[in-house]
Amino acid sequence: MIRRLPFLLSFSALLAGTAQAQKFEGLALTPPMGWNTWNTFGVNCSEALVKQTADAMIANGMRDAGYVYLVIDDAWSAKERDSAGNLVADPFKFPGGMKALADYLHERGFKFGIYNCAGSKTCAGYPGGRGHEFQDARTYASWGVDYLKYDWCNRGTANGPETYRIMSDALRAARRPVVFSLCEWGENRPWLWAAPVGHLWRTTGDIDPQYRRFKEILDAQVGLEKYAGPGQWNDPDMLEVGNKGLTLAESRAHFSLWCMLAAPLIAGNDVRLLPPEIRDILTNRGVIAIDQDPLGHQGFRYRAGSGMELWAKELSNGEWAVCALNTGESPAGLTIDWGSLTFLTGAYYKVTDTWASKTVGANSSKAWTGSVDSHGVALFRLRPGY
Ligand code: GLA
Repeated sequence: MIRRLPFLLSFSALLAGTAQAQKFEGLALTPPMGWNTWNTFGVNCSEALVKQTADAMIANGMRDAGYVYLVIDDAWSAKERDSAGNLVADPFKFPGGMKALADYLHERGFKFGIYNCAGSKTCAGYPGGRGHEFQDARTYASWGVDYLKYDWCNRGTANGPETYRIMSDALRAARRPVVFSLCEWGENRPWLWAAPVGHLWRTTGDIDPQYRRFKEILDAQVGLEKYAGPGQWNDPDMLEVGNKGLTLAESRAHFSLWCMLAAPLIAGNDVRLLPPEIRDILTNRGVIAIDQDPLGHQGFRYRAGSGMELWAKELSNGEWAVCALNTGESPAGLTIDWGSLTFLTGAYYKVTDTWASKTVGANSSKAWTGSVDSHGVALFRLRPGY
């Protein structure tokens, strides 16, 4: 009896482990970075577009800045499954097939992402995954898929947590490690149940390239910070940086705040035509480092109102990122008295202006004073010490 006890204990621990944590562990320990077809190209995804994008991202430095997941969103498949019920790529959009495309990407240091939907059809009306989860997971594994975005249209009365758990189990059963991105728009409060199921979950409906929408989504993240961490991220949706509708200051603010939120950084612009000022946003190493900090803390809104918000994010080694967002319609003066920020526990910090990439305070005993563009940001990194 006594000799059997350790066996029983470890067996039940194993059962508990499989029941609660069926997703692939050790993936997305920092927020995933990549590019997705949807925000700019909608249903017009294609093999040529993805290959051109990959080549461009090598040339423009995006891949080396960390954007490695290339994700094909809705409308990649044929309108019907084949006679065996398998998903098949649209032969006109993807004439070489998905396996060859995955190989192309893998050979160039990228990872391959694909999309489907938990319902009977995708949002754009292509075959959905409902009832085919295990078969589809095997198909994805055979193609070399590394990332699956799973949407929530046409799901009838399906239960959210149960439905996503089935796909998570299916991915596990197919045995190829896949980052699982839940896209149920926050409807079932996925931050409460999705961490054992997937690696990131949308918290809201879709973004569009308007400051007003960016701000609504930003506001909706307040309070969710406690649910994020390595391998489990709140997803405030893909980036609109560089897309028509946002000023340069707004694109910079959107990127900065997504980094403060430890959000997945999935670019959604046409990176084949990347103006230098947009490239400089998307590839800014100092700003990306705030997003990718290994501590994995999501930032929180420290102060709101009066036209200027202050956000803070704890980083590893006692460092902090602080971001001021001017929500007003004209440029505004700002003074940050570091000593008044109650989350800072150290005596002194060296303060760097992250976008200017320069030290602005040899130590934090001196307040920072400057001007912030309308809908723009000032972003700082604070390191303990003089
Ligand atoms: C939903 C998702 C979007 C995109 C489209 C595709 O709206 O939230 O991100 O995937 O479907 O149809």
